Amino acid sequence: MWPLSQSITVIGLASQKIVKIIPIPDNLPEDLSLMNFLIENGITVASSCGGVGVCKKCLINHTVSSCQITLLEFIDINPSLQVQISYL
Ligand code: FES
Repeated sequence: MWPLSQSITVIGLASQKIVKIIPIPDNLPEDLSLMNFLIENGITVASSCGGVGVCKKCLINHTVSSCQITLLEFIDINPSLQVQISYL
């Protein structure tokens, strides 16, 4: 688990700016993908496959398909809680 009141920081690599800081809610659905979490919080995530893991347009942090990882998994493997998106 993570301390309450932590946030995901979305960084745009094209703009070199922090796009948004999104608080992590207490009651996360275990199956919520990182991609859907970002979209639900107003972040544009590129996709042409609708989140089935084929197009690789939803890459964050250069290597992670955001549709293929849950937010909880992302939190576990990324202590910095930073999401870098190349085209933002
Ligand atoms: S949306 Fe196509 S691979 Fe993630």
